[in-house]
Amino acid sequence: MAINTLKELYDLGEAPPLGYVPPRMHAQVIRQPRFGRPEGAFAREVVPTPAIGPDEALVYVMAAGVNYNNVWAALGSPIDVIGARTKVGEKEDFHIGGSDASGIVYAVGENVTNVRVGDEVVMHCGQWDVHDPDVLAGADPMFSPSFKIWGYETNWGSFAQFTKVQAHQCAPKPKHLTWEAAAAYMLVGATAYRMLHGWPPHNVREGDVVLVWGGAGGLGSMAIQLAKLAGARPIAVVSSPDKYEFCRRLGAVGCLNRKAFDHWGRLPHWEDADPMKTFSTGAREFGKAIWDILGERKSPRIVFEHPGQDTIPTSVFVCDSGGMVVICAGTTGYNADVDLRYLWMRQKRLQGSHFANDEQAYAFNDLVVDGKIDPCLGRVFRFDQTGECHQLMHENRHPDGNMAILVGAKREGMTTRE
Ligand SMILES: NC(=O)c1ccc[n+]([C@@H]2O[C@H](COP(=O)([O-])OP(=O)(O)OC[C@H]3O[C@@H](n4cnc5c(N)ncnc54)[C@H](OP(=O)(O)O)[C@@H]3O)[C@@H](O)[C@H]2O)c1
Repeated sequence: MAINTLKELYDLGEAPPLGYVPPRMHAQVIRQPRFGRPEGAFAREVVPTPAIGPDEALVYVMAAGVNYNNVWAALGSPIDVIGARTKVGEKEDFHIGGSDASGIVYAVGENVTNVRVGDEVVMHCGQWDVHDPDVLAGADPMFSPSFKIWGYETNWGSFAQFTKVQAHQCAPKPKHLTWEAAAAYMLVGATAYRMLHGWPPHNVREGDVVLVWGGAGGLGSMAIQLAKLAGARPIAVVSSPDKYEFCRRLGAVGCLNRKAFDHWGRLPHWEDADPMKTFSTGAREFGKAIWDILGERKSPRIVFEHPGQDTIPTSVFVCDSGGMVVICAGTTGYNADVDLRYLWMRQKRLQGSHFANDEQAYAFNDLVVDGKIDPCLGRVFRFDQTGECHQLMHENRHPDGNMAILVGAKREGMTTRE
């Protein structure tokens, strides 16, 4: 193609020639003065396309996935992600979020060998110092102090025409999926995979009862499927019977409506007899509801946690002796009250977990490639609805499963570059 036909800026859905990177791009940008309600925090701007380093790839984004982390980024709380980066010397005073994507590789750095220009890929969101001696020696990069979530803790995420990633983040796009479905699952899926397969000896196994909070949400819909694949018996907790069918289709053996109980929140002080009795009664009834589903007095060997403050006392209470409560978030708050008597006498484990390493993300992606996991795409949005879908998520009014945004893909339903 003659050089004078190449443009500085391309419209959304108008792909530049393969391998040509225009100097400017459209992006959904968060700036500090706009921090607040997600629907007002994102705005479409034209910004310079980022340059890549030797271990990086530049990917033309076909679709982007929506996650809770950019609700937090939009709110500017609990962390001002822009302030945190400018404080350590980064020059951009804006945030381009987006920690999930499908797209086409347009450029690679000189050290990159795992992907080439033209490859159709999905990306996981784990970044770390790839030259960290501990990582090179085989340590789990999830424990590296350099670990960051791309598109939340880093800039240049997927809510833009081009995204800058470390090449190891790329994995093959499942060919049978549309761009939007392929963009929807990796962050929640790989996180759920590490939670259920990454903490031996509590790896999920055949026959295990697994209690899954938010069973119809992003993480929960992946956890139900992973537990089912392992031959376990997942039980979903949701906020309305309307969500039961969705969870059952994914493999839940039963569902609980959390609104039928009212003992949620922080654990009362153990010396306050009446409030403690109210909690214990509620938690026991919740545990009994689990047994009723199973038809036997069997408690969850694994409790899949992320609501945090409001639910963790109950999670620890209902977890089986020798079982594990594995937690990756505190959506309702960060204070974890644990009645230590149950923790030590019944020898339970409370395990933190955060995203996933390459092996775990690739292993999860293989399950999707093989058609064993449904990405559970609930709704697709236009690029200019980036704020709107994050607002729905903030208000817990989003559809069951996961959401995606069309970026480079001209329309829904495309599975490859046309
Ligand atoms: N550390 C990590 O690597 C990591 C990775 C992914 C996500 N996360 C975090 O995990 C959390 C959930 O993410 P997600 O993508 O699954 O979000 P999501 O799709 O919004 O699902 C969360 C579910 O939690 C349930 N929920 C809401 N309020 C609740 C409450 N008070 N008590 C019990 N359940 C409640 C909701 O289901 P019902 O209303 O039906 O109960 C909702 O569907 C977010 O905070 C996110 O930032 C962390």
